Amino acid sequence: MRLKGPNARLVSLLYVAVTVSLLAQVGLGVKQEDFKTSEQVAFYRRHRAFADGVAKESRLLGKSASTQQAASPYSVLQDSVYLDGHTLVSSIQHGADKVPLKLSVSFLDKGIVRIRGQEAHPLLPRFDDTQKLVLRDGGANLKYASADSLQLTSETVNGETVHIVSFKDANHTASLRMTERPWTVEYVLNDKPSILLNSKGLFHFEHLREKPGADGEVDGADGAWEETFRSWTDTKPRGPESFGLDISFSGYEHVYGIPEHASSLSLKSTRGGGKEAYSQPYRLYNLDVFEHDLDSPMALYGSIPFMVAHNAESTVGVFWLNAAETWVDITREKSSTLGNLFRLGTSSKEPTVSTHWISESGVMDIFLLPGPSAADMYRQYADLVEQTPLPREFALGYHQCRWNYLDQEDVLTVDDKLQEHAIPYDVIWLDIEHTDGKRYFTWDSGKFPDPVAMQQKLAYNGHQLVTVVDPHIKRDTGYRIWKEANDKGYFVKNKEGNDNFQGWCWPGDSNWVDYLNPEAASWISRQFHLDKYNGSTPNLFVWNDMNEPSVFNGPEISMDKDIKHHGGWEHRDLHNIFGMLYHKATADGLRTRESPNKRPFVLSRAYFAGSQRYGAVWTGDNAANWEHLRASIPMVLSNNVAGMHFAGADVGGFFGNPTPELMTRWYQLGIWYPFFRAHAHIDTKRREPWVFGEPYLSHIRSAIRERYRLLPYWYTLFREASLTGMPLVRPVWMEFPQETSMFSEDSSFMVGSAIMVIPATDADTSMPIDVRLPTQENWYDIRSHAAYIGPLKRQFATDLATTLVFARGGSIIPTRERHRGSSELMRRDPITLYVYVSQTGTATGRLYLDDGETYNYQNGAFIERELSFENAKLTSRPSVRTASSPAQLEFLKAMSKVRVERIVIVGMRNPLTKAVVVEDGQTRTIELSYAGHKLDSECTIRDPAVLVGNDWEVTLS
Ligand code: NOJ
Repeated sequence: MRLKGPNARLVSLLYVAVTVSLLAQVGLGVKQEDFKTSEQVAFYRRHRAFADGVAKESRLLGKSASTQQAASPYSVLQDSVYLDGHTLVSSIQHGADKVPLKLSVSFLDKGIVRIRGQEAHPLLPRFDDTQKLVLRDGGANLKYASADSLQLTSETVNGETVHIVSFKDANHTASLRMTERPWTVEYVLNDKPSILLNSKGLFHFEHLREKPGADGEVDGADGAWEETFRSWTDTKPRGPESFGLDISFSGYEHVYGIPEHASSLSLKSTRGGGKEAYSQPYRLYNLDVFEHDLDSPMALYGSIPFMVAHNAESTVGVFWLNAAETWVDITREKSSTLGNLFRLGTSSKEPTVSTHWISESGVMDIFLLPGPSAADMYRQYADLVEQTPLPREFALGYHQCRWNYLDQEDVLTVDDKLQEHAIPYDVIWLDIEHTDGKRYFTWDSGKFPDPVAMQQKLAYNGHQLVTVVDPHIKRDTGYRIWKEANDKGYFVKNKEGNDNFQGWCWPGDSNWVDYLNPEAASWISRQFHLDKYNGSTPNLFVWNDMNEPSVFNGPEISMDKDIKHHGGWEHRDLHNIFGMLYHKATADGLRTRESPNKRPFVLSRAYFAGSQRYGAVWTGDNAANWEHLRASIPMVLSNNVAGMHFAGADVGGFFGNPTPELMTRWYQLGIWYPFFRAHAHIDTKRREPWVFGEPYLSHIRSAIRERYRLLPYWYTLFREASLTGMPLVRPVWMEFPQETSMFSEDSSFMVGSAIMVIPATDADTSMPIDVRLPTQENWYDIRSHAAYIGPLKRQFATDLATTLVFARGGSIIPTRERHRGSSELMRRDPITLYVYVSQTGTATGRLYLDDGETYNYQNGAFIERELSFENAKLTSRPSVRTASSPAQLEFLKAMSKVRVERIVIVGMRNPLTKAVVVEDGQTRTIELSYAGHKLDSECTIRDPAVLVGNDWEVTLS
């Protein structure tokens, strides 16, 4: 999107024209030349040259590829190692440059290890606010291991010193071993060196240095003090300050995460590794990539430097906390020796994934998460960056969006039509054209003469409005927002720091508020308050787009790295958190616009670790084709793997016109993504569900209704995520950690632990679909209740009406089955419980309900039931978190009429005839119906008339 022009409308028109012409040319995709390859990035080149030097040196030393560590020039300074409370302190130094680095290895609760490093005496401070802006409570309240649980011993092995810190907690007997020459670190878990640092000798730290004099003295570093990309020059006033480190996962073949890339779920090798491998590293640098490629490690809109490694025994993670541009190379090998020089006696051929991380600036700050289960590891990660909070309940409903709904009448017509076609929805969206000339927080008064009346009309049936509020602010002295920000000096500054940074985006000439400045961030937050945002009501929520940030005339369609932020920091230091800071400011504004505060809803395109606290994200501009439909699965899963749970993809595909079949399949898949929104480019044909006629309309309606039917399950999943950090949608391996054949499965996935989705993603409906149902368990078609016994591998035929979704035996799934126009209208609807019986005749599940909008749940205003089925008895008990409080009593009162209206027990082998219900000391007997046969049976208790908030049990006989 490199459009220039003097006028805002012209910019949009040009953009549209360019899009149209591009779309007309088959096969045209991303303009590669707009974006850097690793070879075009000086700090990456320098680290690559360093790595190649190490490899060469290692070969000269006769070391095999897996024991390259001997060539690392970095060693621990003699006598510099000591244990200070929970931290192992040391100084390390490059053999030639003699600039000491201070390294601290801290031991945290749950076995988390944190490694921080920078110059012992930095010439200039390094940017270190990332930890404050990303970690829980700004990192202030991290829980450290108690000093007396740690023990430091030092040994000499093969003439070299190794320091060992041993520690124990409930889950781990672990030790951390640090060698002195060269410097390496091994995290030894259950006697296995599992996570290895610098075992390949690629650690390299570019210390800050004086600029070489004008007398021509050069320090030899390629592109260290200036770098050009096309017509842009990065002046690099601070010179080189990058660092890189290899992190190897010994015993693992699969690594996941580090979104955002349109890549496979199990990350590919980027060096060596044959046909499947990429020729470029994975890049983390938030970018607005127009018509991005698929199956590529190119950077996209978001960056989460969190990687997860999994094998049949354990799941571990590495969180590389850095907001600057970062590249990650991945190689795989079988190592005949593990880890560093000081073996624990193992020499079996273990597979190893080695990763090489390189960041341009900031402090080296790494967290090692030991698992051992995925659930343990997500608790550890959530300790660091917090969980996903409970969203507004409506946000889980269906979102109807396009660029653009033309005017007020159009919005209300879509609202009417959805109702007319009995399609539930929760939110209708307005893209940039609703504003007065792309001046956000304003309305085009010709098209939207009465936005408040429009919102009230929508609200009548429980529908909300979302408006886009982008971060670029039109440079216009008559525009209040621009004028106030300018007068207060809140904009990001140019390279010299003496004027506002200026760039192009939708409105033409624009400036960007500097959210790194806390005062500017709270000022922008206030602009979302009802008294400031004219025409907004409490039913209006916000969409932050273009916040990578996208700058049409900037390098790689973004900001120059050397422009200045608050405190004099360069954009390079914080690029990857810029979008998140805006997301946070927006969410803060919406949260505080009412008293008492209500939960906000904000969708953001750019994101970083921690963004999950502020709202949802989507995968950006995809296209209306089958490849993009398929690609969305690993993209949404990778976000979930990396803790960004509330994620979705544009249903239908943003660019181009979907066929009715594709549109139908997209809905059938999209309902299983945490964030479920249909969206379309301005140039596409209208594509609201009814446009396609029958039978597509009916298929789409059924899909959307299925989403609404399962809202109680989704909301309960969000509750779980908000407590445990567990992903909402999960790779199959996460639920079946020992099913090695599923470790790279990315065409099917789990929604929570109870539902497996195997979407149809092929144009040809006559093509049967491969289904693999893992483990020795019953699986039930979620609609027909036909039973299958796992493990099972077979093909299923699917016509356009069929989707392959299976409930896992042993689970209880709560639903609401009445058809309504919105989630709000369902709030007091009765619940139906589906009990899918396991091979041993048992099942468990949970149901969580609260008011869906306030924070009263924090005072106990919720219903949370543990449901269990055993010996033909279904029991509902309060969760351990349930406690009596005034807020709870009030909520129970509000829900006092909400009952369980039906219980369906699927897969009871023996016919049953009656149910005895015990509630509140009262016993009643109800007839029940039993249909079908053995596992393929359905036993239905109609109206057991128990309340959702009560303790009760139902015994079948
Ligand atoms: C780019 C976004 O990705 C897209 O969803 C949006 O419609 C356009 N910007 C216009 O705002």
